[in-house]
Amino acid sequence: MVGVGIIGVGTVGQSVVSILERNRDIITARAGKEIRVLKGVVRDLSKDRGVAIPLTTNPYEVTDDPKIDIVVELMGGVEEPYRLVKRALEHKKAVVTANKALLAYHRYELSDLAGDLPFEFEASVAGGIPIIKALRDGLSANHIEALRGIMNGTCNYILTEMDQRGRPFDEVLQEAQRLGYAEADPSFDIDGYDAAHKLLILASIAYGIDAKPEEILVEGIRSIDRIDFEFAREFGYTIKLLAIAKRRGEQIELRVHPTLIKSREMIAKIDGVMNGISVIGDAVGETMFYGPGAGGDATASAVVSDIIEIARGGKCAPMLGYKKPLEEGFHLAPKELITSKYYLRLVVTDRPGILAKIASIFATMGISIESMLQRGGSQEAATLLLSTHRCLERDFQQALTTLKRQPFVQESPVMIRIED
Ligand code: NAP
Ligand code: HSE
Repeated sequence: MVGVGIIGVGTVGQSVVSILERNRDIITARAGKEIRVLKGVVRDLSKDRGVAIPLTTNPYEVTDDPKIDIVVELMGGVEEPYRLVKRALEHKKAVVTANKALLAYHRYELSDLAGDLPFEFEASVAGGIPIIKALRDGLSANHIEALRGIMNGTCNYILTEMDQRGRPFDEVLQEAQRLGYAEADPSFDIDGYDAAHKLLILASIAYGIDAKPEEILVEGIRSIDRIDFEFAREFGYTIKLLAIAKRRGEQIELRVHPTLIKSREMIAKIDGVMNGISVIGDAVGETMFYGPGAGGDATASAVVSDIIEIARGGKCAPMLGYKKPLEEGFHLAPKELITSKYYLRLVVTDRPGILAKIASIFATMGISIESMLQRGGSQEAATLLLSTHRCLERDFQQALTTLKRQPFVQESPVMIRIED
């Protein structure tokens, strides 16, 4: 028998207990032994959780219990779970977590501390999609040239509903919270940080790169408006929050931002709470992974697969996939040297000569305009929707700063990067 303790019996934790119970026969057959949840940790013992396991509010009853072999951390947060996971490892427990925020900050220290102890985190990126094992094991023969993913179900759900049903942002966000997709603090979802945490985990496995969320370009979806989808449709694009890693020699670009992508691309067709990740390896070419990225059962499916793998007793791969460091390490590319095409929404005074002034600001920075639409022309204001040819992030940002200072620009401009 393998004893499991779960710290955090909320949306995911309850589903883990329930899957272990309802699929007991097949799980026991696959693990080769019985897996039993011996204890769960919560804050509030009075809440009904619909699970029949002993509960406590004291996490040390799990981390320190000699009958518990695997500690499953599903409480969320960063510093408290870090302390508890360290304690579990010090007590020689195997660890499973779904906590990408914890790993975004502490994955290298935890990997060192775990050493040969199993430490699995399949559910931390893209919920039910087995992307960690795919990247760490299935694609381990490859140099990873690029990966592009929709890794936040909440944002994808919001963008899909805004685009296809014209629903307002706030209403859809509340629904995503009700459905158990959003983080406890949903600003992590909509400001792009949840996707950034996941990207950093994948970047460690793909490139051995130890970057923190603050060091990479992260933008969320708060400024996206229904009018942006109009422009997107007109020019054959859709808008998705993408997490992108690209290799340029020894430099690795890492960024998360709303992105205009061509509607014909596979990743553009991923709607609702679903996630999708395209990984390009030098040997295999492009591979695509698709599935539910959030929600109790989908996420618990990945957590339970980690528990089974550990219970089987096989040798788990090193936590971040590297047995020794790369001789020539990869480096994070500076944000300002990213190149992209850009879309810009500008609300300007509707007067002769304004367009020429805008074009000249871009021309000064060597940026060429590719296409333009005008909406809502009146005596006072017009909305201009324009896109540029490829240019340096640094040059575009400088043009944007100059534009913001112009008296004819009436509202803060909105920019979206374009991936072609
Ligand atoms: P949740 O529903 O908020 O559940 C968190 C659980 O942890 C609750 O049972 C809570 O107890 C308990 N908890 C929190 N702080 C605690 C503390 N200090 N001491 C004891 N218990 C504590 O969260 P969730 O959605 O299940 O997410 C859990 C983890 O999985 C997070 O790291 C999240 O990022 C990750 N994840 C979630 C999803 C998803 O779709 N939900 C997908 C992938 C990964 P009370 O109930 O008593 O408050
Ligand atoms: N809040 C996350 C999302 C949960 O919406 O994708 C899965 O990590």
